[in-house]
Amino acid sequence: MQRDLAVQTENLTKRYGDLLAVDHLSFHVIEGEIFGFLGPNGSGKTTTIRMLTGLAQPTEGRATILGYPVPGEASQARRYVGVVPDISNLYDELSALDNLLFMAKLYGVPKREQRSRADQLLKDFGLYLRKDDRFGTFSRGMKRALTIAAALVHEPRMLFLDEPTAGLDVVAARSLRNLISNLCHSGLTIFLTTHYLEEADLLCDRIAILVRGKILKVDTPEALKRLAETQSIIEFSFGADIIHLIGDLRLMLDGADAFILEEDRIRVQGGEPSKIFDAVLQFSRDNGIGIEAANSIRPSLEDAFLRITGLSPSVMAAEKGGQRGG
Ligand SMILES: Nc1ncnc2c1ncn2[C@@H]1O[C@H](COP(=O)(O)OP(=O)(O)OP(=O)(O)O)[C@@H](O)[C@H]1O
Ligand SMILES: [Mg+2]
Repeated sequence: MQRDLAVQTENLTKRYGDLLAVDHLSFHVIEGEIFGFLGPNGSGKTTTIRMLTGLAQPTEGRATILGYPVPGEASQARRYVGVVPDISNLYDELSALDNLLFMAKLYGVPKREQRSRADQLLKDFGLYLRKDDRFGTFSRGMKRALTIAAALVHEPRMLFLDEPTAGLDVVAARSLRNLISNLCHSGLTIFLTTHYLEEADLLCDRIAILVRGKILKVDTPEALKRLAETQSIIEFSFGADIIHLIGDLRLMLDGADAFILEEDRIRVQGGEPSKIFDAVLQFSRDNGIGIEAANSIRPSLEDAFLRITGLSPSVMAAEKGGQRGG
């Protein structure tokens, strides 16, 4: 089945003086997918979202959201689009419920539906018991969740999430990721930015890798990882210590390298997988030592990132959540 495109861009570009913040991006987002913009600080993620949602004017190029050209028809598009900015747009002094009601009004939700929508979202997001508490008193994770709820109050078809889990602890981030993935199951198209490789890997159907305003690669996490797969890596665990026999094993491996991980565990790198399995099986028979486990080690998205960008994945680790609000 041919699926529609939720976003389509052609040479989308933003300059700030001499700086090319977003550099001729041409990409598309398919309806119903979670599409990720993965890139280090300053790579142009937020600027792209701002252009797509009509908050910043492209210097060059064009884009459509759900078929509407932006910025030209951004106000029409906005009826079907929710935006969760990197810094919350909700009011500290209003209660959770009043924030949602305010957003419902702002987005033109019919009056008789405002309260029921707000209540339902508070329930869906596990915040109903806190509905009368001021937003300012919420934890970081709860603030994020409510900010997402607020972006859904007009039942959009597409959601933009700018760094949804930045600065959250592991537990809050995990719960928010579950929530995001459930939203997608309900048919929503999601465009999210992140500098967490693991998050992009877990959540996204496709990932665009963005560095200094340019997209270097767009593909599924699986396909990106395959790019990093230059040689086979297999780990074997044995039923007994094999360190004293490693020399014998190496002679049987026909060019592949064997490394000791623990007394009874090795990693074999390179070579042809089926030949390696045969050789290790033979070794195990010759020495009467059983093989307890054999695992092919796939490259991680970190390996792929390094290969595609030439940058160390640690450029993504820069913590910036600490300084931000909401
Ligand atoms: N209003 C602005 N005026 C001048 N420069 C800007 C403006 N907004 C963004 N930039 C610059 O554009 C570049 C891209 O910024 P952007 O915020 O889009 O990056 P980002 O990928 O979202 O980064 P982060 O991961 O830190 O959120 C940066 O060099 C930034 O300094
Ligand atoms: Mg940003």
